[in-house]
Amino acid sequence: MKTKVWTVDVKRDLSTNCPQIAQAARLLQQNETVAFPTETVYGLGANAKHSEAVAKIYEAKGRPSDNPLIVHIAEIEQLAEFAEVDSPQAEMLMKRFWPGPLTLVLPCKPGVLSTRVTAGLDTVAVRMPDHPVALELIRQAGVPVAAPSANLSGKPSPTKAEHVVNDLNGRIAGVVDGGPTGVGVESTVVSCTGEIPVILRPGGVTKEQLEEAAGPVLIDQGLTDEKKAPMSPGMKYTHYAPEAPLAIVNGGVEDIQRLIDQYQKDGMKVGVLTTEERADVYQADAVRICGRRDRLETVAAGLYDVLRSFDEERLDFIFAESFPEEGVGRAIMNRLLKAAGHRVIEA
Ligand code: TXA
Ligand code: MG
Repeated sequence: MKTKVWTVDVKRDLSTNCPQIAQAARLLQQNETVAFPTETVYGLGANAKHSEAVAKIYEAKGRPSDNPLIVHIAEIEQLAEFAEVDSPQAEMLMKRFWPGPLTLVLPCKPGVLSTRVTAGLDTVAVRMPDHPVALELIRQAGVPVAAPSANLSGKPSPTKAEHVVNDLNGRIAGVVDGGPTGVGVESTVVSCTGEIPVILRPGGVTKEQLEEAAGPVLIDQGLTDEKKAPMSPGMKYTHYAPEAPLAIVNGGVEDIQRLIDQYQKDGMKVGVLTTEERADVYQADAVRICGRRDRLETVAAGLYDVLRSFDEERLDFIFAESFPEEGVGRAIMNRLLKAAGHRVIEA
């Protein structure tokens, strides 16, 4: 299959009828897969009502079939067709954060969506992305769009169209290139099926913001306690890992430099993930800068691009600084820990 790439200049092209998006929407209607930008990461979309279309997503990504997909909508009116909203918190959260990087897990109405979307669960994950290209594409497709992140399973999520092409060229019908995404980490997934909402995956909307809008929110214990299984099927899989093994270091610059020196002495090629504030202090084979530590949202925005860029260097080992687990730092550390296979060095 030849993968078509459409480039959309968000400022210029969307003010007129945009033939690129019309073509992409037509392919979705023909039950093909199309990747598109959202405010978090690029998604790989297909018609959520059509089983063969949804099957193509799993095949292209090499995704395990027990890992359900997020359904993307452009208008709130689309929701009632396939999901039940009987939680007051869910209503408050939607009002406050949609469109935006928040996914809600709600009871699913049977018989509308392909059962492949929900992996047979009786709940469905839904979100309304805050990106003009995504919204216009979903509107024109005229169906709810199932879309996981548009990466090969196990790789970091794509924050640029070129990441999608690197992973999925020849495996999907097309990619709409709308430039780099803004948030950089995926949406926060919140289950609204019980009395109190539960965060199943930390992401672009922080716990603090959720609580301000809808009262107390819990965090799935399975995310931090390795003995407990996470409540969200996708959170058990290894993910985001660069080719070289990665370890997070809880320690200062000197501790990390000492580790780099040690490993290099053993003949290894060593990389380090740091931020602008400390860019000049490390001596290593690859020093990669990921945003500014004093603005964690810039670290989130650059994280996956930096993780992918280490693969160009054929490294033997990578050390990453750790980040405070507050605000979007929770999502950053959740993804880094997964990328590191939970390898943490206490220096
Ligand atoms: O920002 C995002 O959320 C991006 C963009 C493309 O929208 N999408 C994304 O999708 O990250 P994906 O498939 O990579 O992650 C979806 C997560 C998985 O961990 C999956 O297990 C979980 O949501 N999920 C989906 N449906 C669920 C359900 N019914 N119950 C619990 N977890 C669910
Ligand atoms: Mg993903």
